[in-house]
Amino acid sequence: MLLAVSGLFEMEDATMTDKVPNSDPTDAATEARDPSHIMQIGMGFWASKTVLSAVELGLFTLLGSGPLSGAEIAERLGLGSRAVHDFLDGLVALRLLERDGAGERARYSNTLDTEFFLDGTKPSYIGGILEMANDRLYGFWGGLTEALQTGRPQNEIKQTGHPMFEELYGDPTRLEQFMQAMVGISMGSFHALADKFDFSRYQSLCDVGGATAALSIVLAQRHPHLTCTSFDLPVVKPIAARSIEQAGLSDRVTAAAGDFFADPLPKADVLTMSLILHDWNLERKRQLIRAAYDALPPEGAFIVIENLIDDQRRENVFGLMMSLNMLIEFGDAFDYTGADFRAWCIEAGFRSVEVLPLAGPASAGIAYK
Ligand SMILES: C[S@@+](CC[C@H](N)C(=O)[O-])C[C@H]1O[C@@H](n2cnc3c(N)ncnc32)[C@H](O)[C@@H]1O
Repeated sequence: MLLAVSGLFEMEDATMTDKVPNSDPTDAATEARDPSHIMQIGMGFWASKTVLSAVELGLFTLLGSGPLSGAEIAERLGLGSRAVHDFLDGLVALRLLERDGAGERARYSNTLDTEFFLDGTKPSYIGGILEMANDRLYGFWGGLTEALQTGRPQNEIKQTGHPMFEELYGDPTRLEQFMQAMVGISMGSFHALADKFDFSRYQSLCDVGGATAALSIVLAQRHPHLTCTSFDLPVVKPIAARSIEQAGLSDRVTAAAGDFFADPLPKADVLTMSLILHDWNLERKRQLIRAAYDALPPEGAFIVIENLIDDQRRENVFGLMMSLNMLIEFGDAFDYTGADFRAWCIEAGFRSVEVLPLAGPASAGIAYK
């Protein structure tokens, strides 16, 4: 018996062909079953690596200048003639490219989304996270079974044993790549927070673990009454200072250096931590929440931005996969639900907590002192 799978390929179902037909009523149910969901997820790395390679090769950026034929793309990107049409038509089928015409005469162009998000020359580029996924995570996830069995990280620190950020930041190229990856993964949430949260009641904000200062910049641009500090490790400060200057916001946004475990956090009306708590184990998470409480004035707000897992832990696939990614990257770090965040904040002394959905799988957890 042949079962259609995802409309992409067909496979023989051995369990069905080997059986002698009978009137077992379970046969009808078996006949109706469709393995396409299983296959789509199980073989998901095919599609994943296809788009990651396209980003690595700069295909979407190349097509930012206009449509090209397969032969032109092959020549510009150095692709073999056997591969090019499968690669490009695969991306058409994945709805990541448009194609006009067929065969040798076909011309390929970006979709509206790939033109906006994956053309590296545009400020809306989010491919930094896909570049890092291609260079680092794609390989490291090969160690997931071992991580599940041992609880140990599977990234660079598997060999060296150094703490994750020390390891990542020892190499300027990897530091820069990680910074751009953070911009890519976080920009949608930053804009959503700027739109959805009422900042009119507050004058000052400190973004703890602010990386390139992207959140401070977005908030200062959107809310001209705010002054912002982007606080991160000393090695990151020059990168933040550079983007603040490029944004022309040096009068209202400052880059500050420090270690959030060793130094008191800068005082401000609002303290934000985007993708920070999920990098650490429970003890460290609690330490950071207490530090935020101590740095805030009465009525101050502590805002985390994370892919908060739904309280029933059934729906937010990206949040749950992100938590597995934290296993791969750190071992004992994990993502968490809004209910977890509420409990830790109330325990630290905050008087109320709410969850504000942002873009896609991300939400803000907001705790008021
Ligand atoms: C996962 S990134 C999040 C970056 C950014 N907030 C975002 O959402 O895109 C974690 C950030 O925490 C910073 N960080 C890690 N350990 C730190 C420490 N001990 N003190 C201050 N910042 C730290 C890292 O440099 C990095 O910028």
